[in-house]
Amino acid sequence: MTTIGIIGAGNIGSQVARAAIAAGYDIVISNSRGPETLADLVADLGPKARAATAEEAAEAGDFAVVTVPLKAYESVPVAPLAGKIVIDTNNYYFERDGQIPALDNGLDTVSSMLQRHLVDSKVAKGFNHIMAKDITTDGTPAGTENRRALATSSDFEEAAELVNKLYDELGFDTVNVGPLSESWRVERDQPAYVVRQNKHELVENLAKAERATATA
Ligand SMILES: NC(=O)c1ccc[n+]([C@@H]2O[C@H](COP(=O)([O-])OP(=O)(O)OC[C@H]3O[C@@H](n4cnc5c(N)ncnc54)[C@H](OP(=O)(O)O)[C@@H]3O)[C@@H](O)[C@H]2O)c1
Repeated sequence: MTTIGIIGAGNIGSQVARAAIAAGYDIVISNSRGPETLADLVADLGPKARAATAEEAAEAGDFAVVTVPLKAYESVPVAPLAGKIVIDTNNYYFERDGQIPALDNGLDTVSSMLQRHLVDSKVAKGFNHIMAKDITTDGTPAGTENRRALATSSDFEEAAELVNKLYDELGFDTVNVGPLSESWRVERDQPAYVVRQNKHELVENLAKAERATATA
């Protein structure tokens, strides 16, 4: 059985957990305050879930999902995630995360920042442009007409492939945006961000993306 280590147990972490358990995964989920604060969530998720510290969740996962506010990304444990695929749901909200000039100026991407922090992991962007509540309700079987599509992006083919497989198991088609340097196309305020779109529409919306510039 495959175990997913989930770092962050809020809107997205809890919904990814719910959907992944329904798809047959075991999950180990964590937050910043400690596993005892996750008793209600774990009871709700059932026997395929347990709560742990972030270190333990990272250690336990065959792969991991990082879904904390971006401002906390440097606290994500590095050593237990080495060699593992890490799915990054993070988005940049300057109102919450503080101003990050390299993102404001289109010189970096959210997931490239996490990749540099997790230097020995294989980071792939995932679940960043779907509202948390839709993760458990919008999935449909492969081949369904107008199936919802989600984007991924990674510097590692196997990481993008894993996201592709997970999306499919949870009911979504995948569009691979390419390396993390291109993942700005699916970040906040771009046409593909948090709208329901099928694969064809997602490809079109990614092509319409316009990057912020240092002079804007
Ligand atoms: N909400 C959405 O629909 C949505 C959609 C797509 C992407 N996203 C992005 O996904 C990320 C998570 O969003 P969210 O809405 O799920 O946030 P959230 O509801 O605020 O939950 C954040 C979670 O991260 C935990 N956390 C914070 N710092 C941590 C640390 N240092 N180590 C371990 N866990 C830590 C928090 O634990 P404590 O409560 O114990 O502090 C909480 O469980 C954000 O970047 C967000 O922009 C959100």
